[in-house]
Amino acid sequence: MAQRNFFVGGNWKMNGNKESLEELISTLNTASLHDQTEVVCGAPSIYLDFARCMLDLRIGVAAQNCYNVAKGAFTGEISPAMIKDCGAEWVILGHSERRHVFGESDELIGQKVAHALESDLSVIACIGEKLEEREAGTTEEVVYAQTQVISENVSDWGKVVLAYEPVWAIGTGKTASPQQAQEVHEKLRAWLRSNVSDDVADSVRIIYGGSVTAGNCRELASQNDVDGFLVGGASLKPEFIEIINARA
Ligand code: PGA
Repeated sequence: MAQRNFFVGGNWKMNGNKESLEELISTLNTASLHDQTEVVCGAPSIYLDFARCMLDLRIGVAAQNCYNVAKGAFTGEISPAMIKDCGAEWVILGHSERRHVFGESDELIGQKVAHALESDLSVIACIGEKLEEREAGTTEEVVYAQTQVISENVSDWGKVVLAYEPVWAIGTGKTASPQQAQEVHEKLRAWLRSNVSDDVADSVRIIYGGSVTAGNCRELASQNDVDGFLVGGASLKPEFIEIINARA
């Protein structure tokens, strides 16, 4: 069975300035980080260059979004080529805030995934159900449909991390229980086995996001199918280091 290295992404969202990010980066650069854990920080696009120049090279940098074409008259957008030009290697796509605050459709997210991979960026592809969908018992249906669209656009699963982020857990302080996370992750892996391949099901990292903290990360990390985290609020604090080392 393929080895899945633990993966911890930080999503800074629209937070920080050069001064506060420099402080955070110097904390990360000097921390002792588990060497089997892959760490990536999602910087605001205007700070991608800054983050890449300042962060130690053992930490990757991700953009939080990108557009679905290489260049052109798309005021305000950034392309995967520009992200790569700043030295960043990753992009977060399909985040719930992109889906639900900015109204991005599955179709657009799929196009972005395809174009980012064609441009040789790695992708943290996010999926997750809303509270009313969970309460209506449609969690599986929702996350399978989102994964299906992503999967139709993936040319190389080796460059994709799947982030399960229940919308009701993001930024709410309400974490999915380790059992709830494991249940969905296990089903997603089974979906990949039936719809993509055994190889992909065994090797793709499925990470959990939604109010992960230093306090809850170890129990979540102990679940078989939880291969890491995508961390918002806590990624801006020194406790991010404890989360990175959750499996250490
Ligand atoms: P949170 O955000 O950790 O602040 O809940 C997670 C995310 O949005 O990726």
